[in-house]
Amino acid sequence: MNAHLKQDEPVDDNFLDKTGQGEVGKPLSRVEGLDKVTGIVPYAAEYRLDNCAEGVLVQATITRGQVTRIDAEAALAMPGVITVIEDDRLCARAAQGTAGEAPQQAPRTICYWGQPIALVVAESFEQARDAAKTIRVEYREENGAPLDPTLVDAEEQGNETVNQGDFAKALSEAPHSVDLRITTEGHASAAMEPHAATADWDGDKLTVRAALQMLNFNISELADALGLDEKQVRILAPYVGGGFGSKLGVSQETVAASLAAMQLGRPVRVVMTRQQVFQTVMRRSETSQRLRLACDDEGKLTAFGHEALVSNLPGEGFAEPVLQSSHFLYAAPNRKLQLDVARVHRMTAGSVRAPGEAVGMPALEAAMDELAEKAGVDPVEFRLMNIPERDPEQDLPFSSHKLAECLEQGARAFGWARGERKPRQRLEGEWWIGTGVASAARVHNVGEAKARVTVRPDGTVCVQTDMTDIGTGTYTILAQIASEMLVVPVEDVLVELGDTEFPRGPGSGGSWGAASIGSAVFLACKELRSQIESKTGQPIKDASLGDALGGEELSCEGHYEPGDVKSDYTSSGFGAFFAEVRVNRFTGEVRVNRMLGAFGFGRVLNEKTARSQCIGGITWSIGVALTEALMFDPNDGHLVNCDLAEYHVPVNRDVPELEVIMVEERDPVASPIQAKGIGELGMCGGAAAIANAIYNACGARLYDYPMTPDRVIAVLD
Ligand code: MOS
Repeated sequence: MNAHLKQDEPVDDNFLDKTGQGEVGKPLSRVEGLDKVTGIVPYAAEYRLDNCAEGVLVQATITRGQVTRIDAEAALAMPGVITVIEDDRLCARAAQGTAGEAPQQAPRTICYWGQPIALVVAESFEQARDAAKTIRVEYREENGAPLDPTLVDAEEQGNETVNQGDFAKALSEAPHSVDLRITTEGHASAAMEPHAATADWDGDKLTVRAALQMLNFNISELADALGLDEKQVRILAPYVGGGFGSKLGVSQETVAASLAAMQLGRPVRVVMTRQQVFQTVMRRSETSQRLRLACDDEGKLTAFGHEALVSNLPGEGFAEPVLQSSHFLYAAPNRKLQLDVARVHRMTAGSVRAPGEAVGMPALEAAMDELAEKAGVDPVEFRLMNIPERDPEQDLPFSSHKLAECLEQGARAFGWARGERKPRQRLEGEWWIGTGVASAARVHNVGEAKARVTVRPDGTVCVQTDMTDIGTGTYTILAQIASEMLVVPVEDVLVELGDTEFPRGPGSGGSWGAASIGSAVFLACKELRSQIESKTGQPIKDASLGDALGGEELSCEGHYEPGDVKSDYTSSGFGAFFAEVRVNRFTGEVRVNRMLGAFGFGRVLNEKTARSQCIGGITWSIGVALTEALMFDPNDGHLVNCDLAEYHVPVNRDVPELEVIMVEERDPVASPIQAKGIGELGMCGGAAAIANAIYNACGARLYDYPMTPDRVIAVLD
């Protein structure tokens, strides 16, 4: 049985609500939570396979050139060492930016420092690691690789360019304008679980247990990289310890473990060290952004200019989509947007935690604050008066739009004092105290998704898809949807994820997971429900499922496809951040006292997991604002701070009580279950609320994120 919907129209059928007291929306704790925190369920590196060998990657120590010789003689003579694999496919860069493509085949070509070039396989990890240190590599080095994005001729990304109206004229004639250069540093995904893969080859079929987000694409990538048919590959990733973009594509440990297993005919595990994850998997590009905004005397935007420079390796397709929400967030008749990519020899830039808005919104929202001040308009008011009726560039309606509600409700809950604002109004001991606001926006994405739902003879329900749960709550929300739709207790729903033998889900990325796979499960359940009801002649809530089926099993594959409705609307999550910070007048240290986010993202499927996503997102906002920055050596482009001691993610002491308001919303365009993406919205603009609060506290504007004490103290007087 099949239930297919290609969504060409809004879905107004509020089926989920009709049951009244169903599970969807309730703050259910994660169904797999206990198994995770008690260590019962395994992550990719934790499977115990008999006779499993251990592999350690060897990395390049030049920035650009060719490997001419790998001398493994000493390594091969060491105890426990089984083999050293030098395969061109190990040199491949991760195809992180473009899921679905195999890693690029570049024979022994090195294009960034730290690139994996060989794999040492031994009986134990320690033996492999020890032997890896003795590998001698000879190179033909090409000097002078460009490393600084600001020093090369950048390539314009034509599809991002917008020139509407007469921007220059509007800018020069406006009574109020700003022209700012704002920078953000590179970021690491910094998922807690390091990249790991355990591969097993039986002579015909490869089974890989790996830490991946997008099995639907990863199976093609891996098969392609290994020259296998997809039918010969099975990937298992039922539990993934965070991805944040770094596991969207197959990276080198998975290719390496697979190659070694196929060559040796025994299982091989490859676990990256934290340093290897940082150095080789991918980075978020640093950005340099020019914001030119102008408004009239009332505060209505007349000119909107956002131009950004990002970087990536030569030949890579991904460009940090900094302008993504700038295209539609604020009305202004005269617009200029442009995105340029500089080609530099730092490791691959790819999708990291809300690619685009995570760094674009903090720049835009800081510029909005400065312009509001110049125009003498309260910054909440300023944003409210510039919300467009329709997408200002494409002239499309919004699918649903709760920015105004988020600003209003957020301001009320935070206790925002509207009206004239002046910096340096509150000094407590050594600390200046101030508040700031910023909008949140993150485009809403969906992807094709399939899931099988089976009602078993005993009346329990099983949901199966290769969709992943990367810590977001997929297991839980799918159980809730099936529970509500089929009127069975949530305990009677078994959700099985992360196995490519199951129907293909959308993968976890771009915040599209819940809305997409939730819709596939919804469609399957709806069909099952109507079949059972027509069979029994009574509403499903009055019958026990098992009895209704008379001992038979009933199965349906739900298939959701985003259709034409996507091109008829602009669809985005919106929100508002409010922050109170304190700035130490002597040390420049910034602490966040409290922070609040109000968000509208369609139907909430689980109040608890949704709130957790928001709290996580706001926490990453604090990282963008205050702590996170990749540091590259200007001489060879190697990443210097490549672990969690040197790369500072916000920790408990950096994060105060965070308040989250979820604004009631249903979006019949966004997905059949009327839900939008949640995961990334919480970090799309929040850093600007902190930056704006820093200004309000101490009277100094900073234009470079993160606003570390050295940078703050430099502008304090
Ligand atoms: Mo996300 S950065 O698309 O996993």
